[in-house]
Amino acid sequence: MSISIQAVRKAYVARGAERLALDRVDLEIAAGEFVAFVGPSGCGKSTLMNMIAGILPVTEGVIVHEGRPVRGINQHVGYMTQADAVLPWRTVRQNVELPLRFHGVPRRDRAARAEAMLDQVGLAGFGGSFPAELSGGMRKRVALAQLLAYGPETLLMDEPFGALDAQLKLLMQEQLLRIWTARRQTVVFVTHDLAEAITLAQRVVVFSGRPGRIKQIEDVALPTDRDPFRARFLPEFERAYTRLWEALAPEIRRGEAA
Ligand SMILES: Nc1ncnc2c1ncn2[C@@H]1O[C@H](COP(=O)(O)OP(=O)(O)O)[C@@H](O)[C@H]1O
Ligand SMILES: [Mg+2]
Repeated sequence: MSISIQAVRKAYVARGAERLALDRVDLEIAAGEFVAFVGPSGCGKSTLMNMIAGILPVTEGVIVHEGRPVRGINQHVGYMTQADAVLPWRTVRQNVELPLRFHGVPRRDRAARAEAMLDQVGLAGFGGSFPAELSGGMRKRVALAQLLAYGPETLLMDEPFGALDAQLKLLMQEQLLRIWTARRQTVVFVTHDLAEAITLAQRVVVFSGRPGRIKQIEDVALPTDRDPFRARFLPEFERAYTRLWEALAPEIRRGEAA
């Protein structure tokens, strides 16, 4: 088991009042599994990711990652959010090397590892460029190289492609699936795009509106070596989409009415 989420609750205290963000979440994620989280805005998806990453404490319950309860910053996950961590004043190569520096990888190994990662995401030859010189899609790929550089076995991705246009998103999905098929990391992927969740994941978890609870879990019957461009035309995709949308739509409507 990679991640075990056991009876987790999370309450925030805002202006003296306690507000429940997540309630009794139980979920087991196997090593090498690709799981997507979907749910209405504000249902606690990012909160849960932050708790797996050890950035936020749980209020009740426990999260176990690779056999150890998460307490404090979890060094064994790679974390990528929509607001990527690419620094404009560093070159592409320096950006990719950054997490390696934090993990104490010696300088001589860093450059080679960074080059290999850039090659893997299709950015060979761009190591000396600055982020401002790249397109939006290329910057996303720098962030992906940064995420993968240290070789974490678990990737937490919180709406990483949310700001990209539809075509670019497909390219990034293709890239991510290629990397995952080769390396088989455990991936937890948050998205507000149900089609993206089904395109990528082996399992899609639907959360209810606040306080977030797991409402439904759907296995996606597409092959693991699927092609993101074609997946959406397959009957398995349509079946998963219909069932998931039935679970998700009322939660979104409830949120809109509130
Ligand atoms: N630091 C915070 N303090 C108080 N409330 C917060 C904080 N962060 C998030 N929340 C609240 O917790 C709920 C879940 O937020 P979040 O995890 O960001 O949801 P999601 O990622 O699903 O959109 C929301 O109601 C949000 O307003
Ligand atoms: Mg969020």
